[in-house]
Amino acid sequence: MPRVSSRYEGLGVGFAPYLQPPGPGVVRWTVGEPGFDTPNEIIEAAIKSLQEGRTKYTRGAGTIELCQAVADYLQRHHGIEASAEDIVVTPGAKQAVLYSFLITTMPGDEAILLAPSWASYEPMLEFIGAVPVHVRVKFDNFHPDIEAIRAAVTDKTRMILINSPCNPTGAVFTPEEIQSILDIAIEHDLWIVSDEIYARMVWADWPHVSPATLPGGKERTIVVNGWSKSWAMTGMRLGFLTGPPEVVKAAVKSQANSASHVPTFVMEAARVALECDESVEGFNREYLKRRELMLEGLSSLPGLRVPEPEGAFYIFAEVTETGMSDIEFADGALEVGVQLIPASLISGGEGFIRVSYATDEEAIREGLRRLRTWLIEE
Ligand SMILES: Cc1ncc(COP(=O)(O)O)c(C=O)c1O
Repeated sequence: MPRVSSRYEGLGVGFAPYLQPPGPGVVRWTVGEPGFDTPNEIIEAAIKSLQEGRTKYTRGAGTIELCQAVADYLQRHHGIEASAEDIVVTPGAKQAVLYSFLITTMPGDEAILLAPSWASYEPMLEFIGAVPVHVRVKFDNFHPDIEAIRAAVTDKTRMILINSPCNPTGAVFTPEEIQSILDIAIEHDLWIVSDEIYARMVWADWPHVSPATLPGGKERTIVVNGWSKSWAMTGMRLGFLTGPPEVVKAAVKSQANSASHVPTFVMEAARVALECDESVEGFNREYLKRRELMLEGLSSLPGLRVPEPEGAFYIFAEVTETGMSDIEFADGALEVGVQLIPASLISGGEGFIRVSYATDEEAIREGLRRLRTWLIEE
């Protein structure tokens, strides 16, 4: 039998082993997926699109109407200047991240990740032969350690990845921190890939700031975003990127030579979604309630340090003082019927667990009851 090419050898799959559906009755705090149905207007737009026959090939970067709607959305919500021609709609933000890595690095080039970071960045960089360089964030609040980033830059560094609000830590970097990272990028002529998929979920007192809106930022920043999180559209596989013209040209080539485009009929659903501000805000009100519930519940458990999450829908809690490793904690939790993620699966996550409070309220209450019985009453 022929051999599978060696590029798959040792390649990680992030949190995938812990994202499998657990056995019956297990409460699931693992998946970074909104516990809401996709808003009805969006579903209806998809159905109507199908009925109207939008089932054929179309413009690779997305219909011009959709790309214009994305450009308007970026301006309206995040102050990012872009025209329809500057947008490439991709099969999920994940694919946009992959294109961004292909565009900014060659094999052997280094990319700085702020550890702990989203579990897919590292294997994705390794997949294309680039070298992830993990720079730890500050231990107490998960904010970037600017001097450590500066010290990690070498003559092979090509890119710094920012993901704020952050999966898995829930940190929202301050405008000053974003400026400082941009200053380093300007000083060393580096790209910034800014994964802003949680940009609408900010619970901190300071706003989300995209480096693309700061002086000198636009020409070196690739902004990645998508519909999965804020519109509860994970399964529709819709994301996008925007950046300087050469980046957009390269992203169009990446897509032309791989996915071609996202399904034509979902493009209209994506366009309609961008007008559904009420749904996004309604989900956010619910997330805030769930965040309080989870924060309060986890903080009352012995041995857990639970920093306050500033954005996204994750809590990153330290379990070292329970006397268990994060793997032991996750295994023990699963035994009592709570599935959560041990963060030592990713660089810089040792001693921490990640829980998602995007799940429904009853799952949070029930999971907390089980953990309380396990850690306090047994
Ligand atoms: C930080 C981050 N970026 C990108 C993605 C990918 O999102 P999508 O479903 O749009 O591919 C995720 C999903 O978990 C994420 O957490």
